[in-house]
Parts: sequence; C-alpha cells; structure tokens
Amino acid sequence: MTPLIETRRLNVRFGGVHATRDVNFSLAENELRCVIGPNGAGKSTFFKLLTGQVKPTSGQILFRGKDISNMQPHEPGRLGIGIKTQVPSLFNGLSVWENVWLSARRLNSTAHANRITGETLERVGMAAYRNVQAGLLAHGMRQWVEIGVVIAADPPLILLDEPAAGMSDAEVARTAELILEINRQHALVVVEHDMNFIRMIARKVTVLHQGAVIMEDTPDRIMSDPLIQQIYLGKKPH
Ligand SMILES: Nc1ncnc2c1ncn2[C@@H]1O[C@H](COP(=O)(O)OP(=O)(O)O)[C@@H](O)[C@H]1O
Ligand SMILES: [Mg+2]
Repeated sequence: MTPLIETRRLNVRFGGVHATRDVNFSLAENELRCVIGPNGAGKSTFFKLLTGQVKPTSGQILFRGKDISNMQPHEPGRLGIGIKTQVPSLFNGLSVWENVWLSARRLNSTAHANRITGETLERVGMAAYRNVQAGLLAHGMRQWVEIGVVIAADPPLILLDEPAAGMSDAEVARTAELILEINRQHALVVVEHDMNFIRMIARKVTVLHQGAVIMEDTPDRIMSDPLIQQIYLGKKPH
C-alpha cells in the first residue's frame, strides 16, 4: 500500500549544520508514530520539511505517492497536513470558539463550521471554555485548543510538535487519551520528549540523532537500548 507520507534520503543543511541526514521515513494511513531525540536532533526541522516551511537540500517527500518536495508554505493545509507547531499559534485576542471556528470555516460553510466547532471543543474537552479569550488560558488548555484548531480542519495527517511539554501529570495523561482518540480517524506523528507519555501512546518510535534516523522500534526496545540511554546523556529514559 502507498504510504500516507514518505521521505526518501531527505537532507537539509543550514550552512554548516546538517540538520536532516538521509532520512527515510514512512507512515501508513491511520498510523500513530512518535519521533524522539535530544534537543537539536532535527525533530522540528523534520516537521518543517513535511509542511514546506523548510526546503530540502536533497531528497524527496511524497504524500500519498505525490512528490510534494517543492510545496509552498500555504499548501500543506489544502493537501491535508495539519500541524501544531512548538511555537504558540492561537489568536490571543479571540475566544476559544473563534480560534477553532476559523479553522473549521476554511473548508466548510458557516453552518457546517458551527457544528464542527461544537464537536471539536467537546472532543478536546474545552466546550466549557468556549467564550474565554485564548490569551487567558492556562498552558495545558491552550495546547488542547491548539490541537482543536488542527483537527477542526479534518486533515488525514496530523503533526504535533511536543504537545505534552510543560504539562502536569494529569494533563499529560489526558493528552495521551486525546491523541489515541484522534488516531481513530487521523494518522499522527508526535514529537515528544516525555518518555512516560511516549509509552502511553506509541506502538512504534523513530529516534532521530544529529539529523539521522538511528533506530525505529517499539517503545520498550528503544528505551532499553544502551545507545539510546547514552544519547539521552545518562538520563534514564523513563
Ligand atoms: N533556520 C535555521 N537556521 C540554522 N540552523 C537551524 C535552523 N533551524 C534549525 N537549525 C539547527 O538545526 C538543528 C536541529 O534543530 P531542530 O530541528 O529545531 O531540533 P529539535 O526540534 O530536535 O530540538 C539544530 O542544530 C538547530 O540549531
Ligand atoms: Mg523542536
């Protein structure tokens, strides 16, 4: 079967920094994959490549078999690739409802967008906060609204860059549940540091180190691997 997204020998250099090295990555329709790696491993750059924000120096990106290596930054949304970046992206002056609605409205009529927005806020557990200004939300709730903005556009592929960073244990558990629920309808790639979180959601993990894929396996095998433990600088990865 044609993968949902695939990269072939993908490379990026920023001057002297080789941020992505010969990355061969393949994600099936409806798969959920975690991508881990220490700071500076190239995780965010990999997402920027998949969304056209960074152009590859060499190699290819295929979405459902179509070469999208040269896509423009506005194209991923239309193709069906949604991203929650590491950088906050909500409109702080608008309400929770308005933020999600603007995303739902992009591809739908007003009436349909209203319905999708209501359903999305239920899914991410933020219906009670619909009239709250986004700028006033606590960190965890803000992350859930950001995820809501992505799912309201109904993309087949969702990229989440560190969705659980800075969350309490309870919020992390809730986010894991939410991701598993979203995965019933969408494929996801989740970049994350928190190993407990990865254990809660992942079946298959891709490890990036210095821009290259060094391992792809189950969370248990990844976390018991001596090389991985070493890369995480002596920090026990659990
Ligand atoms: N626009 C850029 N210009 C120059 N170097 C960059 C740029 N973006 C990222 N890098 C470098 O590429 C490497 C990977 O960064 P990044 O993808 O943000 O890592 P991660 O998300 O895994 O922490 C780092 O060495 C970073 O400093
Ligand atoms: Mg990053």
